[in-house]
Amino acid sequence: MILDKSYQIAKVDERIYGSFIEHLGRAVYGGIYEPGHPESDEQGFRRDVINLVKDLQVPIVRYPGGNFVSGYNWEDGVGPKENRPRRTELAWRTIETNQVGTNEFADWARKSNTEVMMAVNLGTRGIEAAKNLIEYCNLSGGTYWSDLRKSHGYEKPHNIKTWCLGNEMDGDWQVGQKTAVEYGRIARETAKAMRLVDSSIELVACGSSGSGMPTFPEWEATVLDHTYNEVDFISLHTYYGNQENDPANYLAKTMDMDNFIKTVISTCDYIKSKHRSKKTMNLSFDEWNVWYHSNDADKRIEPWSIAPPQLEDHYNFEDALLVGSMLITFLQHADRVKMACLAQLVNVIAPIMTENNGRSWKQTIFYPYMHASVYGRGISLKPIISSPKYDSKDFTDVPYIDSAAVYNEENEEVTIFMVNKNLDDAITITSDVRSFEGYSLIEHIVLENDDLKAVNTADNQSVAPHTNGTSTLQNGMLEVRLSRTSWNVIRLK
Ligand code: AHR
Repeated sequence: MILDKSYQIAKVDERIYGSFIEHLGRAVYGGIYEPGHPESDEQGFRRDVINLVKDLQVPIVRYPGGNFVSGYNWEDGVGPKENRPRRTELAWRTIETNQVGTNEFADWARKSNTEVMMAVNLGTRGIEAAKNLIEYCNLSGGTYWSDLRKSHGYEKPHNIKTWCLGNEMDGDWQVGQKTAVEYGRIARETAKAMRLVDSSIELVACGSSGSGMPTFPEWEATVLDHTYNEVDFISLHTYYGNQENDPANYLAKTMDMDNFIKTVISTCDYIKSKHRSKKTMNLSFDEWNVWYHSNDADKRIEPWSIAPPQLEDHYNFEDALLVGSMLITFLQHADRVKMACLAQLVNVIAPIMTENNGRSWKQTIFYPYMHASVYGRGISLKPIISSPKYDSKDFTDVPYIDSAAVYNEENEEVTIFMVNKNLDDAITITSDVRSFEGYSLIEHIVLENDDLKAVNTADNQSVAPHTNGTSTLQNGMLEVRLSRTSWNVIRLK
């Protein structure tokens, strides 16, 4: 491998380490919010959860959905709690109590050192509700909706900068599903109205719900044709699983993700040319993760309960490796992927789990996410690497080694992230890092486990990183031993 400080991809937008809290399952109720819990603060927010979110240094959190947002009346979640209605929640077929809403979530975000990425309902609602919501959140006062916020005890505006125009509007599971033309039109008109209220916002249009959708990528082309001047980002969503228990093929799925990103970039650039535009559309990968372990359990959940344990995947070690590789994929596309949200953050397909009235604990995927977020800020460099390759059921020429590197000029620090996907053998990488003259090795963090299916629980963190990785740095040559199936973080300073 050659790693040179002049082989730069782009500055990493820290928002690629974003996450997501939806009104779904125990993410909000029993997750971030549990009044009466010994760790809860005066608003009912669990301090132990906030501390874990702070450990992850999550820069932005998408809210309130997800599929949930497509049936949401945001007005139900503001004002005196005792007056808030209980509603049937159609996306997940539960009862929404509305005890947490826009203002509480803004408070929680502030306490967690993060920003809100707010989604508006373009399923059952439209321009008017979105325009009112941004007025409620972002205007200082003197109008009906901003004064209503003040009357609810929030004197200062929330100043939410990033807004999603609906969610997965191409999906037949979405309440208020639309064709690309229908969605493109409403997204454009909603964007116009929202920007007239606050011209400083950034807007994300819905791309396809996944690259497997029959309308992908024509959906992106049509939606962007309508919205190119009005929006700043197009969204991408993807979830992977190892349903077939084929780890080699499972770990290769970042090739699919890479291809997805490249196709969306090409589609954006095609519309840019078509419109003779100078503006470059960026990508918001605002839902990504592993999601499959909980699928069967979810089928057994009775409808119309409050905060049932939905989508509670218990992640194993191989999931952490794939999550690490997905993070590497974002860094490799740091020039166009400017936001990404690990879906989700607490209890629902999440790195952080809680017990009702009990402990909080870290899933396996917590660790690669934390390492990338904490050490992956700076300029994304392009490592030139020659890696041995393998073929799997769905992919050919899969590199055994995935790698990305981030150069933090300010701290004079370089961090190399690597996944070894080889199921049997360690691989030693020799890397020329001579452009980082005078740097030495700070640490080599490793996440490894003999058992790909090892999981963490509240009692046992059997998948946790250590810092005994085998690396040496001499005369500008870095030698790194990557254990079989391992996530590695090599830090130089
Ligand atoms: O993150 C879970 C769900 O996955 C979201 O609500 C939806 O947008 C996607 O289908």
